[in-house]
Amino acid sequence: MAAALAADPSAAIPPLLQLEGISHRFRKRRSAEVDQPILQELHLELAMAEISVLLGPSGCGKSTLLNLAAGLVELQRGRVLIDGLPSQGPHPRVGVVFQQPALLPWLNVYQNVGFGLSLKHSEPLSRRQRHDRIEEALDLVGMGAHAAKAPAQLSGGMGQRVALARVLVRRPRLLLLDEPFSALDAVTRADMQGLVHNIVARIGTGVLIVTHDVDEALALGDRILLMRSQPGQIHSQWTGVRALDDRERLDLRRDILRQLSDILQP
Ligand SMILES: Nc1ncnc2c1ncn2[C@@H]1O[C@H](COP(=O)(O)OP(=O)(O)OP(=O)(O)O)[C@@H](O)[C@H]1O
Ligand SMILES: [Mg+2]
Repeated sequence: MAAALAADPSAAIPPLLQLEGISHRFRKRRSAEVDQPILQELHLELAMAEISVLLGPSGCGKSTLLNLAAGLVELQRGRVLIDGLPSQGPHPRVGVVFQQPALLPWLNVYQNVGFGLSLKHSEPLSRRQRHDRIEEALDLVGMGAHAAKAPAQLSGGMGQRVALARVLVRRPRLLLLDEPFSALDAVTRADMQGLVHNIVARIGTGVLIVTHDVDEALALGDRILLMRSQPGQIHSQWTGVRALDDRERLDLRRDILRQLSDILQP
């Protein structure tokens, strides 16, 4: 038995991200009482170079889950592990991008990306290393030619590319993306989905991405997680999505839509 375990090298490698038994309630406004649980006993695992998409009805707790994984909301119950180690608070190798790029308007694109290296827990870098990192991140998102532009000169899609570069500059192992493309038009959105695949292929990060959109989930995910609400839990999940052919993909789309409608009308 011991020999069989030792022969499996993958057995020693913990998942990139593990959420173990996460439960969460918010406090009622102006009261010490707590509300109904938003999340209850939620478990999730994510591997390197895997794109998992979190899909679910509005208000089911997707952003809360992402914020807990990012260490932006304090954990009440359960554990967040990154590379097998418990993590509390923001992690230097975890990058988070929200729906709005939130760039600093007084800095140009290059400086906004460099700002990602000025945040807490950044590695100490020489001027040269800092410059190389910024160029590398701009190149990864295809914004190398726009480094001197001001945020006001950027389209919505370009703004989100810069927001991605600002986290990529820290060479994250995990990207947590909360509806990052939902404010964009359909063509730009498809471009950005291709960009996420490129980034994962080039640097092998794990990605957990929240979306409302079933077609976006199918276009992006290796794995699709469907959440239900009250309390928020993973209702269903599908793996191997990228390997499906067109016919299987249509069947899956139908299945997801049916399950979503079951969740919305219990
Ligand atoms: N800071 C907070 N205080 C109190 N309640 C909150 C807070 N943040 C979120 N909630 C509540 O928790 C529930 C889950 O919110 P959350 O934003 O995680 O949902 P979501 O799935 O991301 O929704 P959407 O799809 O609309 O973005 C909602 O009912 C929301 O009103
Ligand atoms: Mg949300």
